Amino acid sequence: MAQTHFGYQQVDAADKAGRVRQVFDSVASRYDLMNDLMSFGLHRVWKAYTVAVANVRPGERVLDIAGGTGDLARAFAAKAGERGTVVHTDINAAMLATGRDRLLDEGIVLPTLVCDAERLPFADAAFDLVSVAFGLRNMTDKARALAEMARVLRPGGRLMVLEFSKVAAPLAKPYDWYSFKVLPRLGRLVAGDADSYRYLAESIRMHPDQGTLKAMMKSAGFGHVDVHNLSGGVVALHAGIKC
Ligand SMILES: C[S@@+](CC[C@H](N)C(=O)[O-])C[C@H]1O[C@@H](n2cnc3c(N)ncnc32)[C@H](O)[C@@H]1O
Repeated sequence: MAQTHFGYQQVDAADKAGRVRQVFDSVASRYDLMNDLMSFGLHRVWKAYTVAVANVRPGERVLDIAGGTGDLARAFAAKAGERGTVVHTDINAAMLATGRDRLLDEGIVLPTLVCDAERLPFADAAFDLVSVAFGLRNMTDKARALAEMARVLRPGGRLMVLEFSKVAAPLAKPYDWYSFKVLPRLGRLVAGDADSYRYLAESIRMHPDQGTLKAMMKSAGFGHVDVHNLSGGVVALHAGIKC
C-alpha cells in the first residue's frame, strides 16, 4: 500500500484523511481562538492580504475549499455581492458546522457543502476564483487536489493558495523553538490537545516549499503563478492563473 506522511509519521495513504479528520474534529470548537492566540492575530492580516490579491468582483463565482470556520468565505461574500456566489466547503463536518453557525449568527447565508478537495463535486469551469487557506498541507494527494482546482476554474480563473511555507533562514531557530516548545503547550492549555498542535508544526515542515509548490501549480495547469512571502516566509500566498 502507498505510504505518505502525517506530520513526521509515515502512514498508509488510505489512513491519512481519517487522521486529519481526528485533528480537526478535536480542535473545531476552539479553532478560532487558537488561531488568534498562536499567530498573535496575524492570520487575519494574511487572510486580508489574500482577499486583496484575489480582487473578487461583484457577480463572481467563488469556491472556498477547506473553508473551515469561514473567514475567507465571509470576506469573499462581501465582495461578490448579491449577484455573486460563494460556496463554503470543507471535508470536515465539525469545522464546517462551526463556520456555518458563526456566519449565520452574522446574518450571512452561504451554500455550505462537505466535500473532499481531491474529488470536487462541481462541473468543469464552474468558478472564477478558488481559494484554499491552510488546507492544502493536510491533503493526501496535493497534485490531484490542485488538478481538481484547475478543472473547476474557468480559463483565466484564479487560484489563491494561502499556506504555511519555508521561513527565511534567520527566523528558522526561533520559529522551531516556538513551533515545537510553545505551540503544543498552548494547544494543551486552550484546546486540551497538544498532539494536534504538534501535528501542525510537523505538517508545516513536511509541506512543499515556495518553489516546489509553484512548480506543482504550474504542472496542474496554472500557467502563471506569483509567490508572495508573508511574515518572512512563515506563510506564502501562491496566486495562480489557469491558462
Ligand atoms: C487549518 S484549517 C483551515 C480553515 C480555514 N481555511 C482557515 O484558514 O481558517 C484546515 C482545513 O482543511 C480541511 N481539509 C483537510 N483535508 C481536506 C480535504 N482533502 N478536502 C477539503 N478540506 C480538507 C480540514 O478539515 C480543515 O478544516
